[in-house]
Amino acid sequence: MAIIVPLGAMWQRSLLPDSYDMAAMGYPDYGGGPGAGLPHGHAEGTPVTDLIDDPDRPPDVSETLTARAEGEVYTVNGTSPGPTIRATVGDMVEVTLINANVPDGATLHWHGMEVPNAMDGVAGVTQDAVLPGERFVYRFLADHAGTYWYHSHQISHEQVLRGLFGAIVVEPATVDAGVQDLVAVLHTYASGPQLNADSGTTTVAAQPGTPFRVRVINTDNGITPVWVTGTTYEVLAVDGYDITGPTPVDGLRFDVPAGGRVDLAITVPPGGARVDFAGATTLVLGEDPVDGAQMLSPKTAVDLLSYGTPADPGLDVSNADRHFTYRIGRRPGFLDGRPGLWWTINGHLYPDVPMFVVAEGDVVVFRIENTSGDPHPMHLHGHHGLVVSRNDETSTGSPWWTDSLEVGPGETFEVAFRADNPGLWMDHCHNLPHAVQGLVSHLMYAGVRSSFRVGGGGPHNQPE
Ligand code: C2O
Ligand code: CU
Repeated sequence: MAIIVPLGAMWQRSLLPDSYDMAAMGYPDYGGGPGAGLPHGHAEGTPVTDLIDDPDRPPDVSETLTARAEGEVYTVNGTSPGPTIRATVGDMVEVTLINANVPDGATLHWHGMEVPNAMDGVAGVTQDAVLPGERFVYRFLADHAGTYWYHSHQISHEQVLRGLFGAIVVEPATVDAGVQDLVAVLHTYASGPQLNADSGTTTVAAQPGTPFRVRVINTDNGITPVWVTGTTYEVLAVDGYDITGPTPVDGLRFDVPAGGRVDLAITVPPGGARVDFAGATTLVLGEDPVDGAQMLSPKTAVDLLSYGTPADPGLDVSNADRHFTYRIGRRPGFLDGRPGLWWTINGHLYPDVPMFVVAEGDVVVFRIENTSGDPHPMHLHGHHGLVVSRNDETSTGSPWWTDSLEVGPGETFEVAFRADNPGLWMDHCHNLPHAVQGLVSHLMYAGVRSSFRVGGGGPHNQPE
């Protein structure tokens, strides 16, 4: 009995209610900042649905995306990846999502874009899942040039895997027309790894001397190594943010975390260049410099902690208002009544995990520690974090802004951001099966209240 009674209580406590308010789950963590006046799970304040961009401004870019289940795969406007949306910085973007027949409903999350909270596309957190026959209009200002992607955030571990995603590129105000801009969406479908829906080698005709910007997007659950043969390359941007002072990289691979993006500058040399993705797919620019030979991944990766030139990041982290710890571990327990070895956050199992509470304007430092024995690509919605240090070694390169950060086993990162986008934001592992296994927490702004519920009938919202 001495064992059975506590186990029974643990089991009971782990059960998720039929439907629940995400903002009222877990326990508040104020990060050493003021707690009073920042109630957690409060019923008053600005509802998430009010957090939108100028509703009267006509859109500059307008698209309709239709999600469809076609047997085992999901498509957007008939293909996967769906169409690439292109906007110019400053544009008002309007996207109408139509769910043709995805039985569980669908949403669109704008991964890496700092959209207003009501447009974040998370079922049960920022909207209800869009059921078959229904539609939802997303409107947001594309206020930062860069490479991003969109994907469903309803049952995301299944819907993303099966193809419900696409790329969105925000171009700077002036584009160099001489540079060839290529999007390279990597995804492993049931049929195997593909590059823009093609397996094997994709060849782009190009004369020597042609400069390319290759926007690599990793939509998979694991890290993907990328390397270039035939010439050097530069890392122009990471997760949509420019690198200052990029230098030529010779014979190193670049590891793109799950959900992450990297923009590479490659100028085609006389013998041609090629880009290899995990040894599974290949992009040839001009001629193949090694005539179709199988290339092995370089042993060393570019280290963003020291790559590029330091610059003022515009964020003073020395006087942060809040310091949070996000410690990822693993232990046996119950998750919604199921026994198993589950991920923990600061020692707690989902849903009894911290709700990180901030006030608008705060400078926030997160210390992410990974003691779980497995790598985790961590993704905070609605914000970019500045990498301050890794394993207590301070960053010495370009400011490194990220939204999808690979945190290896045993690693510790300090990441800082300004709380300038009010709302209720997910902060989770983008190895999406890990998110289903409880590696999910939220960032909550004081003065915001939730508008939706996870679970329930009608649209059965299930973001992970
Ligand atoms: Cu790309 Cu919460 O996701
Ligand atoms: Cu993970």
